[in-house]
Amino acid sequence: MSNNAGLKEQILQLKKERNAIILAHSYQRPEIQDIADFVGDSLALARKAQEAECDTIVFCGVHFMAETACILNPTRKVLLPDLNAACSLEASCPAEELADFLQKNRDKNYYVVAYVNCSIGVKALADVIVTSGNSQRIIETAPTNRPILFVPDRNLGAWTAARTGREMVLWNGACHVHERFTRDQILAMKEKYPQAAVVCHPECQEPIRLLADHICSTEKMIPYCRESAGNSFIIVTETGILHRLRKLVPGKEFIPVTMGQCSCAECEYMKLNTLEKLRNCLRDMQPEVKVEASLRQKAEKPLLRMLELSL
Ligand code: 13P
Ligand code: SF4
Repeated sequence: MSNNAGLKEQILQLKKERNAIILAHSYQRPEIQDIADFVGDSLALARKAQEAECDTIVFCGVHFMAETACILNPTRKVLLPDLNAACSLEASCPAEELADFLQKNRDKNYYVVAYVNCSIGVKALADVIVTSGNSQRIIETAPTNRPILFVPDRNLGAWTAARTGREMVLWNGACHVHERFTRDQILAMKEKYPQAAVVCHPECQEPIRLLADHICSTEKMIPYCRESAGNSFIIVTETGILHRLRKLVPGKEFIPVTMGQCSCAECEYMKLNTLEKLRNCLRDMQPEVKVEASLRQKAEKPLLRMLELSL
C-alpha cells in the first residue's frame, strides 16, 4: 500500500471515530481536496461550517476560515491541520489599526465592510462581511447615507466599487499571491494561447483585471468555464483551483500562469496543510482553533448579516 493510501485509510477511520467533517478550500493540495467531504470557496465553506452537525470540523484552509467556522458554529470543535496557515490579506489589517482609524474618523460614521479574509477582531468592528462571491450583492444593500470603508483588500474593494458605482474608502491591503501577477506575464500567456479566455480572481490588481475575459470567485469559475463556449482558459489565481476545474469540467483545458518553468501563484499558507498533518490533527484532536466569547458575539452579527443578504 502506498504511503498516501495508508494515510487516507487512517484519515477516513479517524474521521468516523471522531464524528468529524472535513472541509477544504479550493486552494488546498489535490489529495486533501479528494479526501474532503466538501470543497468550496470562502462563502460556501462558511455555510457548510454553520450547518455542520457533527462533533468536529476539520478545516483544511487558512486560519481566518477556521475562525469563521468557530464564530458560526460555536459548539463544535474546530481543528486546523497547521496553525501557521495564515493569510497576507488578514495581516494587512490589524484590528488595533482599524479601531484606531475608526476612532480618529468617528465623525465620518463609516459603514465598515470587511472582506472575510480578516481576523475576528476586524470582523467584530465591521457592519457587514463580504466574500469575493457576494461583494457586489452586499454593497448594493449598503446604506446610502453613510460613507463606506472597505477593508482589507484594495483590489476586491476597487473592483466592487466599479461594479456597483458606490464610492468607497479602501484600506491599503492586498494578497501577496494575487499581486504577484504582472501585466507582461498575462500578455505573454495570451500570445502563447490565443484561443484561451483569461479568468481572474478579483484580488488581482487592476491592470490584470483589465486583461480578463471574466472576473469571479474561485467557486464561480467552475460554472463559468463549464458553460462557456470556449475550450481553454488561462486561470489567474492560486493554482489549487486547477485540480477542481479539471475534475469538475472534464474535456476542457486549464492553464496556470507560469514564469519560465514554475507557477508564480502558490499560496504557501494554503499549502502548509498536508495529508499527514490532517491525519495527525484527527488523531491528536489538535491544533484546535478557539475564539474568545465576547469577540465571537460581536463578529457573528456582520457574518450573519452577510449570509442573510447573500441568500
Ligand atoms: P474565494 O472565496 O474566492 O475562494 O477566495 C478566497 C481567497 O483566499 C482568495 O485568495
Ligand atoms: Fe490569503 Fe492570498 Fe493565501 Fe488567499 S491566496 S489565503 S488571500 S494569502
